[in-house]
Amino acid sequence: MFENFPLFPESASTMAGDVDSLYFFLTAVSLFFVVIIFGGVFFFALRYQRRSESERPRPIVGSLRLELLWTIIPLILSMIMFAWGAKLYFDLSTPPEDSLNVYVVGKQWMWKIQHPEGKREINTLHVPTATPVRLIMTSEDVIHSFYIPAFRVKMDVLPGRYTSLWFEATKPGRYHLFCAEYCGTSHSDMVGSVVVMAPGEFQNWLGGQDTGGQSMAEAGGQLFSQMGCITCHSQESGARGPDLQGAFGNMVALETGEVLVDEDYIRESILNPNAKIVRNYRPVMPTYKGQISEEGILKLIAYIKSLSQEGEPADAVQPVERIPGQQ
Ligand code: CUA
Repeated sequence: MFENFPLFPESASTMAGDVDSLYFFLTAVSLFFVVIIFGGVFFFALRYQRRSESERPRPIVGSLRLELLWTIIPLILSMIMFAWGAKLYFDLSTPPEDSLNVYVVGKQWMWKIQHPEGKREINTLHVPTATPVRLIMTSEDVIHSFYIPAFRVKMDVLPGRYTSLWFEATKPGRYHLFCAEYCGTSHSDMVGSVVVMAPGEFQNWLGGQDTGGQSMAEAGGQLFSQMGCITCHSQESGARGPDLQGAFGNMVALETGEVLVDEDYIRESILNPNAKIVRNYRPVMPTYKGQISEEGILKLIAYIKSLSQEGEPADAVQPVERIPGQQ
């Protein structure tokens, strides 16, 4: 909408125009009131200044019509802002079902990015155009904030939980990526770029070098064996842990109530297994806190997700001796 408007940064996502429109509306309304308020101040100061020592103004008893006017107009304006803002907020916080997932781990002072196909990058995020992309983000240390001005998206990245953000890039190019939350000495160096490519080009890039030859789900399947998860979470009847086949994205019954099996629930169950025990299971799982990195947890999540997806899930290789410290 404001492609070449000098006050707005370049816009390169489907949402950018909507965000700018609301912002423009807010600015226009503010400007309008600034003008009438200050104009009124000066006008009344001149018009009603005291002209002689003995001048007494006529008393005013009020005006219902005027009071209704200055109540109803601001009410309508603020309700428009509320409804418009809420609509935009919900659009921005609801990623489309078919979004591409990309995992982000923030740490002092860099962005670590993993693509499900296995590609990893630091301070650079490659994405295709015309494809909704959902970032699933967490922090290893303090609060950061992932900010791409050209896409008009910004989301805090917090230790201990996942936050997400989505966008659909509209034109190829290289855009700024910032950390927008003061996170220590080198906060201002925690910058990078988002590289938007045509979908075909992006596929080539994904399939290129340094994938490590392994998708995140495959790496997660390997971890699942190495860490011994597989010994309890097996598909045999009488297994000590719940079967994870098809679990992701569904509700699971607890002793009381139920919970959605999503990224946060899996993360919590790895680090604090007794928080939400699945019905008919006993609290026997030890915590893996301190034994697995945030990136390791994301790989396990990718593996558990793959167990719920159509087609071949990534195989967990057969149990092997647990290698301490390896993830
Ligand atoms: Cu990370 Cu500021």
